[in-house]
Amino acid sequence: MLTKTIIEPFRIKSVEPIRWTTRKEREQHLRAAHYNLFLLPADDVLIDLLTDSGTGAMSTQQWAAIMLGDESYAGSRSFDHFRDSVQDIFGYQHVIPTHQGRAAERILFSVMCKKGDVVPNNTHFDTTRANIEFVGAEAADRPIPEARHPATRLPFKGNMDVAGLENLIARVGRERIPLVMLTITNNSGGGQPVSMENARAVSAVCRKHGIPLYFDACRFAENAYFIKLREEGYAAKTPKQIAQEMFALGDGCTMSAKKDGMANIGGFLCTNNSVLAGQEKDLLILTEGYPTYGGLAGRDLEAIAVGVQESLEEDYLRYRIASTAYLGNHIAEQGVPIVQPPGGHAIYLDARAFLPHIPLDQLPGVALAAELYLEGGIRSVEIGTLMFGAAATMDLVRLAIPRRVYTQSHIDYVIEVILAVWKRREEIHGMHLTYEAPFLRHFTAHMEPVAAEQVVR
Ligand code: F0G
Repeated sequence: MLTKTIIEPFRIKSVEPIRWTTRKEREQHLRAAHYNLFLLPADDVLIDLLTDSGTGAMSTQQWAAIMLGDESYAGSRSFDHFRDSVQDIFGYQHVIPTHQGRAAERILFSVMCKKGDVVPNNTHFDTTRANIEFVGAEAADRPIPEARHPATRLPFKGNMDVAGLENLIARVGRERIPLVMLTITNNSGGGQPVSMENARAVSAVCRKHGIPLYFDACRFAENAYFIKLREEGYAAKTPKQIAQEMFALGDGCTMSAKKDGMANIGGFLCTNNSVLAGQEKDLLILTEGYPTYGGLAGRDLEAIAVGVQESLEEDYLRYRIASTAYLGNHIAEQGVPIVQPPGGHAIYLDARAFLPHIPLDQLPGVALAAELYLEGGIRSVEIGTLMFGAAATMDLVRLAIPRRVYTQSHIDYVIEVILAVWKRREEIHGMHLTYEAPFLRHFTAHMEPVAAEQVVR
């Protein structure tokens, strides 16, 4: 039977209280945090949608596996479980554990890139970009042009611009492109999936030029499920078969197990290239740890071994995607502008369209995120002018949904809060910066609301 009500495909065995605050308290907390939600103590947040990274709930099977953790320094049995489970899905020859995704990125780019190189991606996540720039190379985004328009609905809005990739290779030359990356799903582009057809086309371009293709695989399970739902020829395949087919198009991947690894910490780097794997392991030993633990405890490896498999279960994915879409569709029906269509792990509010009276230098995304906290204790994150400065092409507020943590009634509450803010949107003022760090300023910036008499209309 197909019902309208989305139910969580689990029952709850352990609970963690969340704390109510009054509006007056939230006003004080926000002032003390200089209107920067990163600076709020998490205890003062009711519903935390800052990120879906490392914030998920583990299953009974994962907790059971944790008790089996083998903490041996070398040759741990837990590493074997981890490697076998990862290889079963990803299929790559070498599996290198790391403490999280960005550690895998740093090692990959240190080994593969040098000054003057260019690394194309559909859209680089900020740590990916930073790690490429750290070795003196250039991170080039080549999303399809429609990805830059929040309201445009496309089934695979995370796709790479294949012609754009070809042009880039022709312009800079194959020798300067040590690898191409494809991020599934495209987080910075709105949590949008990449189609198998697009991955195949990108892979063909890479093969033609002899360039290795690596996946940024953080949300690979959600991406596989979107393919099952939306791409012709995949309805009868399991998410696991789809993921396996996609990874077979590449030469390796970086992964943050804090997302579709369903773990609170961890990551890995995979490759089919044995020479590179050797160099990568040497670097791993330098800062992360011996190659059979890579900075993780044996119990973390066990949790990931179970988690990557659970993320592909259809009951879970059906609920996950339906619940995110439910949030997006309910607010969009009332006119709230969001990045369309709803993605896998998050809903992105379009702050420029939500608050058209606030000029960009008065940080509409920061103003909107502050209001969601004031109204209902919800923490979100600005992805816009504060994060990227004048280079920002959109001002978005991301509501990322932790995995298996919040129930349908929590989501209903979030909808209610957003709609209350939407109703009084014209009263919301912009923000100005009072302190900024020289780089990555969004984490530590201080802001203040623009006073009523300074508002230009
Ligand atoms: N790639 C993508 C697409 C990501 O979304 C992230 C992290 C990383 C790489 C880095 O992984 O955090 O384990 O080092 N994204 C988190 C987020 C932080 O909130 O979107 P990490």
